[in-house]
Amino acid sequence: MLNNGDTILSVKDLHVKFSLRGKVLNAIRGISLDLYKGEALAIVGESGSGKSVLTKNFIGLLDKNGWVDSGEIWYYGLESGPVDLAQYKTEEDWQGFRGKQVAMVMQDPMTSLNPLKTIGWQIEEAIKLHQGLQGEEAKRKAIEILSDVGILEPERRAKQYPHEFSGGMRQRVVIAIAMACNPQILICDEPTTALDVTIQAQILQLIRNLKDKYGLTTIYITHDLGVVANVADRIAVMYAGDIVEVGTCEEVFYDPRHPYTWALLSSLPQLGIKGQDLYAIKGTPPNLFNEIRGDAFAPRNPHPLKIDFLYRPPYFDVSPTHKARTWLLDPRAPKVDPPEIIRHIQGIKLDTMDVKANGGEQA
Ligand SMILES: Nc1ncnc2c1ncn2[C@@H]1O[C@H](COP(=O)(O)OP(=O)(O)OP(=O)(O)O)[C@@H](O)[C@H]1O
Ligand SMILES: [Mg+2]
Repeated sequence: MLNNGDTILSVKDLHVKFSLRGKVLNAIRGISLDLYKGEALAIVGESGSGKSVLTKNFIGLLDKNGWVDSGEIWYYGLESGPVDLAQYKTEEDWQGFRGKQVAMVMQDPMTSLNPLKTIGWQIEEAIKLHQGLQGEEAKRKAIEILSDVGILEPERRAKQYPHEFSGGMRQRVVIAIAMACNPQILICDEPTTALDVTIQAQILQLIRNLKDKYGLTTIYITHDLGVVANVADRIAVMYAGDIVEVGTCEEVFYDPRHPYTWALLSSLPQLGIKGQDLYAIKGTPPNLFNEIRGDAFAPRNPHPLKIDFLYRPPYFDVSPTHKARTWLLDPRAPKVDPPEIIRHIQGIKLDTMDVKANGGEQA
């Protein structure tokens, strides 16, 4: 399924900037990424690394003070042929695309629901608008989608209001509304704080089920590597506005190459040793208002190379599906082993890495 030529979205050397109080912030610094039809891609990285900004470009929801400075975003899902979303500028351009081709479930589910309307009404409206169904047919479809997203007793629940749902269930309802538009790509931008990891894992499992039923392509955004271990096909690791490593789930967990990926993995609670403090990455991410020289992670890397401070590394291929932007992969680089703690991952099965997920059940 990976890279069989069935690319649905292709990002090429994307640079996104924001203007803030007369200064320019470099939020996305030259990202290239392909998304394959029907896959589940996870994007992980700490707060501020650019996960939301990157994906907002796929639906035209970049904040007003931001712009695509250079690069291309090719979308291949339209029958009329490929389009470069980086050229979409106005609301008119995005009309008929946003929601219908690419839908995004935002970090805060409460703000995307209408508190005064029943859940059923809100899903039916989206169905009427996007699928052209009316009356009883729209109602039936709404109930089916509610059931698809794992809401038990959907007929009864459809008559309820958002405040009668728990946080995890509201998240499911928002996904149901997004699904009512029949999108080709669904992006879920997980809140860092609002949902606990158990619910995150359940939502992920749900997305996986929707993918199987509808052939949906999904992007799941989280700062927690643990939750995506068992359900993502591929993982892209973001740091300071760049994707520093991307590979299949197995490659990123069992054969990570970038020192930042090592650091992220080292801080997984699953690897913690009883009685010892969990590994924490020292220092802070770079200031994106400044030009970054070399490898952006170098100042926080416990064992940087000299060249890391001088030149930005290119991507080096580890396998046809795995690449990382680190000088360690240059044939001339000295051999640097990953930290000892990471080798313990070899003994852990990926399906025990996440908290117990149970997709079909209610959160
Ligand atoms: N409207 C804006 N104006 C200026 N800077 C912005 C704006 N929106 C985002 N940024 C900056 O862009 C960078 C990337 O932000 P982004 O929201 O994509 O991070 P994130 O990885 O989604 O973080 P989180 O996990 O906290 O959601 C950050 O430095 C952020 O401060
Ligand atoms: Mg975000």
